[in-house]
Amino acid sequence: MRKKLVAGNWKMNTTRQTATTLVRELVAEIGQETRLDVVVCPPFPYLLPVREVLAGSRIALGAQNVFPEAKGAFTGEVSPVMLTDCGCQWVIVGHSERRRVLGESNEFIRRKLIAAVQHGLQVILCIGETKEERQAGQTFAVVSAQLQESLPALSSAQLAAVVIAYEPVWAIGTGINATPEQAQEVHSYIRDWLARHCGSEISQTLRILYGGSVTPANAPSLLSQSDIDGVLVGGASLQARDFLAIARAAIP
Ligand code: PGA
Repeated sequence: MRKKLVAGNWKMNTTRQTATTLVRELVAEIGQETRLDVVVCPPFPYLLPVREVLAGSRIALGAQNVFPEAKGAFTGEVSPVMLTDCGCQWVIVGHSERRRVLGESNEFIRRKLIAAVQHGLQVILCIGETKEERQAGQTFAVVSAQLQESLPALSSAQLAAVVIAYEPVWAIGTGINATPEQAQEVHSYIRDWLARHCGSEISQTLRILYGGSVTPANAPSLLSQSDIDGVLVGGASLQARDFLAIARAAIP
């Protein structure tokens, strides 16, 4: 049984005050929940204040990005060493907003993935096709290329620190979620890909999240699919009530 994981990607939102208020409400309601894993990913400046509120709870702290070097002359960047030093256990890598808005390549994402796991971080690796790619029937090819260019660089032990988030680009922030059937189809393809390239044990244990316009209304049907092991939530993770409803839908 793969334990469900619900992660909140706050993106470039919140203030120090709204961030700590939000996480205080989460801690009060599900701070000791053992039946699922919960991760919150605030913006860099709020990692430390959020960590203080999370202290003693089972909710884990994640970052939204990382640079693939431990230290050095990389103005404006944040290293995996700094993230673990600030209490992060997780980091999101390869989010489509970073691929598309910031121009990150599969190669750069692979370097980030390796650096993050080498420094003891668990990684949520995001993959997914655009609307045009889906319409052209290229969904599996795109997803497979994104996996192929990052995962084979990792050992089996390192793969145990990875979670994949299937996030169709056309569903992110648009209010148009993939249907549970569309999501399950791609999740099942990803699990088969993992079986072929990483071995059957990894394919059975590695968690695959769905992301893209997840709400309290659609979370239960998405989470009931056999290969959907959790969700990566953007907009709805900014309201405690919505995020809590989504998290509760993931409790078996
Ligand atoms: P959304 O974002 O839930 O606002 O669509 C999801 C994500 O980008 O991870």
